[in-house]
Amino acid sequence: MRRIIVVFGFLCLFVAPSSAQSFKQRTDVCLACHGEKGQSETPEVPSLGGMPSNYVLIQLYLFREKRRTQEIMNDQAKDMKDSDLQTFADFISKLPPPKPPADTPDVERMARGAALVTKHHCNSCHNPDFSGREQMPRLADQREDYLLKALRDYKSAARPGYDATMDEVIRPVSEADIVDLAHYLAHFR
Ligand code: HEC
Ligand code: HEC
Repeated sequence: MRRIIVVFGFLCLFVAPSSAQSFKQRTDVCLACHGEKGQSETPEVPSLGGMPSNYVLIQLYLFREKRRTQEIMNDQAKDMKDSDLQTFADFISKLPPPKPPADTPDVERMARGAALVTKHHCNSCHNPDFSGREQMPRLADQREDYLLKALRDYKSAARPGYDATMDEVIRPVSEADIVDLAHYLAHFR
């Protein structure tokens, strides 16, 4: 018996560092697409920095179960255990939030965006500074092309969401308003 314990301890010495290594290797893959410092440089790939852990956990679960369908992410999540979902979510939520883009925002579109946010109460759920909380994502300084895609996906029901919240929110919002909202949120300061 004693010998088995010794052998087991010996094996652990080798197994533990390599599994820690593999989590780093796995997150390196994520960050190659999503941006090392939480800010994505790739069209239609979202910045993940500062996302609430709970939001990320739920979205990884939806990708794994193919309730949110996007081939790359369905593949990335397919072998994640429940404990992996939490580990990735905690790691991502600690990345620094994205910075505002360098280009100058369009003054008129920003004004229309601000009015739409008030009209549709976007800031009541996503926080007044759009930092997100719990199951509600951070929106401030997200990539404009990704925000456009996300809002259009809710509108067309391509992305059902964990519950019907965004489906109901987006129903009365026109395509022109979606374009202004994406511009406003992407340039939020
Ligand atoms: C080859 C590029 C690529 C890799 C690698 C990748 N992702 Fe993604 N990820 C995407 C794209 C593209 C989307 C947007 C999906 C959509 O449009 O619905 C996304 C979406 C997400 C989202 C949802 C974000 C949001 O705002 O809703 C999370 C969370 C996420 N990825 C986490 C990860 C994690 C964790 C890994 C590593 C295990 C990873 N990704 C690896 C491309 C990638
Ligand atoms: C009642 C609360 C609530 C309101 C109001 C609300 N949202 Fe959301 N929003 C959510 C939740 C919850 C999610 C996550 C849904 C899911 O599981 O896909 C979400 C997701 C999103 C996403 C996806 C972001 C990403 O990273 O993929 C965008 C974009 C968004 N909301 C924009 C808006 C805009 C713009 C408004 C106002 C027109 C708004 N929301 C109003 C609760 C809300």
